[in-house]
Order: sequence, then structure tokens, then C-alpha cells
Amino acid sequence: MLRRWAHPTTTMIFFMSLLLVLIRADRIAPVGISFRRDVSASRLLCGYDPSACDCDEVAASTMGVKPSPSETPYTVTAVDRFDTTSRAIGFPEGFLWGTSTAAHQIEGGNVNNDWWAWEHSPNSDCAESSGDACDSLRRWPEDIELVASMSLGAYRFSLEWSRIEPAEGEFSLAALDYYRRMCAACRERDITPVVTFHHFTNPSWLATRGGWEAPDAADAFTRFCTRAANHLGDLIGWACTINELNLIGLTGYTTASSPPGVKDDLVRHLAVNDVVAQAHRSAVDALRSGPGDFPVGLTLSMDEMVAEPGGEGVLEAAREILEDRFLRATEGDDFIGVQCYSRLHFGPEGEAPIDPEVPTTQMGYEYWPQGVEHCARRAATATGLPVLITESGIATEDDTERITYLTEVLRGVRRALDDGVDIRGYFVWSLLDNFEWMHGFGPKFGLHSVNPETFVRDPKPSAVWFGEVARSNRLVLPAG
Ligand code: BGC
Repeated sequence: MLRRWAHPTTTMIFFMSLLLVLIRADRIAPVGISFRRDVSASRLLCGYDPSACDCDEVAASTMGVKPSPSETPYTVTAVDRFDTTSRAIGFPEGFLWGTSTAAHQIEGGNVNNDWWAWEHSPNSDCAESSGDACDSLRRWPEDIELVASMSLGAYRFSLEWSRIEPAEGEFSLAALDYYRRMCAACRERDITPVVTFHHFTNPSWLATRGGWEAPDAADAFTRFCTRAANHLGDLIGWACTINELNLIGLTGYTTASSPPGVKDDLVRHLAVNDVVAQAHRSAVDALRSGPGDFPVGLTLSMDEMVAEPGGEGVLEAAREILEDRFLRATEGDDFIGVQCYSRLHFGPEGEAPIDPEVPTTQMGYEYWPQGVEHCARRAATATGLPVLITESGIATEDDTERITYLTEVLRGVRRALDDGVDIRGYFVWSLLDNFEWMHGFGPKFGLHSVNPETFVRDPKPSAVWFGEVARSNRLVLPAG
């Protein structure tokens, strides 16, 4: 995740000061994650006397999975696992196949948030403005048709807070209805809407008051969640409160790669970490108290982390601040959303540069599809929660490489399932080639290309391939 947002020198400074702060604040000691839960996720979903409840059934029905009377929903049979004739790997019945997007990256014209201002600021290194993005504000029905034509069971998209609450305390019914129509259109096509309430952007009115540093930021976010959930809750399938909340402090206050663009201020970074964790917790309560009955969780940006000789301490410190602090914040949630794109190496000085011999993606990350399996296992062990892989993908112009990459990722997911890791679904990032934040429209993560002048979407071979995986609930392995 660091490489995605920072220059190596920045990360080195970051880790040196991080170590100092953690040691001073006595925060290094509890790095081991000691909150493994002794109640199963399905018991949590019951919410009352476990002995009086068929927890597996409740878990299965709540999570959109067909329960089986005698087995947990994810017990795997030999046939399910491996078909020797076709060299196909099966997935559990009810496994949720989906694809993800985010409002600011596809809607276009999101002029009333902090990212729009950041894209247009001379102080940022943004490659270009999000502009019309993919024009999904108008073309969302086409997007949902693309999801349907791939036979996916789920579509993850986000609500743009600045559209729903354009001025503080003033809510737009038209914007709420807009997202309601999206949820309803998904439901009509048997697509489960997975709704993210915050995906990196803050409304301008909040940014002006300090963004996540405003004294009432968590309350403001909770109020927004309450209002939006009241309007949409009966249609929501799964809810993600805050996307990659572990990146908000990092990119805003250490790497200066998102608004407000502050560099190397670890104290503010750690303070924002606390605020977003708090905002998540109160958002969970707000979403649960509204209409509907859907699993609620957060999504985390994770990486497989590897220590080079002498880098063990730095890795532990990094892991605490970047991941473990937020893994603990999931206590009481219904699931954890895992998002992993690569792996990171740590030496004694901080993040180690990538070996020039190692293949990299268009984003400059190490090509490492195995990371997803690693992070899913780690998240499940640390939290005891069911895992939804809410984002996974690769930026590449070579769509064959995308299929190869995703195939490797899915083999890893299957290995984890075989070992009993409770993974409920897998979402490709992304449905469309879209606005990749600081990098603009250069990196191609999409299953569909988007013509920048006409906005016409075209399925790539990977869309057809992924559709076949979802339709058959099987991954056919390449020969050899
Ligand atoms: C984010 C997306 C982003 C993707 C690829 C995740 O960090 O949630 O918004 O486009 O990774 O970099």
C-alpha cells in the first residue's frame, strides 16, 4: 500500500519517525493481535442466545448464502474442490462473485468534494482531473447491465457523500433517490448491492472545517450514514462503512498523496487513524439501527509484508500502525473486507526497494498474486470474522496478464477455503477502466475499457473470462 502512495524516501522517514513515536508511546509492545474472538461469526449474527438458534442457518441467510442442513455453508466436497477431467476448481455454493467501483472514480463531475479541489491544486502531484470520469452518473444503468451480463451476483459501489449532503446538514432527496434506483436496479437483476458509505472523498464543507481533523468529523459521518441508511437500508445487501480507512491518515498526513496533502506528520496521522476507527464503530451502530438487515464491516488495504534481514522490527511497527490497529477496530463487525494488490519488503531502514529483476504492474507494484491469499488468511485469523475480498485486481494494458493474475489469485483463495478460511466472496477491482486517483486515467484496472470521448464501454476478454468463472462457479485452470 505504501508504494502505491509514496516515494521510498518518504516511507523511510515515515518508518524512522514511526519507530520513535511507537517506542515513546509504548505502542510497540502489543503488536501481537490478541483479540481473536471466541464467538463464531454466525453466533454474532444471531445476536441472541446461541443455544436457541441455528446459527449456521442465520449466518447463511443473512449473508445471502443458501444454508445446508447438515453442513456449514462452506464445507467443501471433493467434487466441489477439484474436477480432474476438466482441471477445474470449484467454489462453494453461494460464493459471491462481484466487481467493485467507487463514486469519485466513475461518476464524473464530483466538484463538491476535497478530491476535486486536490486534483486542481498546484500543490498536488495529481496527473489530471477526474473530470467526467466514466460518466457513470448518467450511464449507471449500462454499468449494472455489464455486471448482469457477466452473471455476477454482486456489485460494490459507493455513495458520494458530497452529493447526498452538499451543504452541512442539508440532504438531497434527489441524490438519495439516485442511489436508491441503483440499488433497486441491482435487486431487479438478482445482483446484491454492496454499498460503501465512504470511499476516500469528503464533502468540501467538511474539508474546509479540517476534514477528519474537524472535532465532530466522526459525528458528521455517522449522521450521514444514518440518513443514507434510512433511505436505502431495505435494499442494501452488504455495507462497507469506510473504504481502506487505514490509508486515510497515511496518505493525508504522511505521504501527502491525498487531501489535505500534509507530509510526514505522524502525530496527525495517528490522530486521524483514531478518528476514522471511531467513525467506523459509530457508523456500524447507525447502519444497524436503520431499516434492512445486512452484514456491516469495513474494508482494509492489506499487503503481504516480508522482512529482509534486519527489517523485522520495522515490519512489526509498520504492521501495527497500518493494519493491526484497524484489524482490532473490526470487533463487533459482521465481516472484514480484504483488499490486497501486492507485497512489501522491509529492511532496517524502512520499505526496501523492489528488486529490479522482479516483474511489476502498471502501478509499479511487485507482481504478487499470492498476496491476496496471505492477507485473507491473516485477516480471518486476526479477527475471527468472515472475509469478503472486496477488491482485487491488477493495473495492466495486457488483458491476458490480468486473466493470468486473477487465476493465480483465485487458486490462492481456493487453497485458503480448503484450509477452512471463511471467505464469502471475491470482487474484481474494477468493473471499468477508471480514474485512478493521483495517477489519473493511465492505469488500466478494468474488466471493461471506456472510450474517453464517447464513454462507450467494451468488454475485455477478462470480462468474458470472469463471467464464465462466476456462471459456472468454477475456475478452469490453464493446461500444463
Ligand atoms: C482503492 C481504489 C483504487 C484501487 C487501485 C484501492 O486502494 O480502494 O479506489 O483504485 O485500490 O489502486
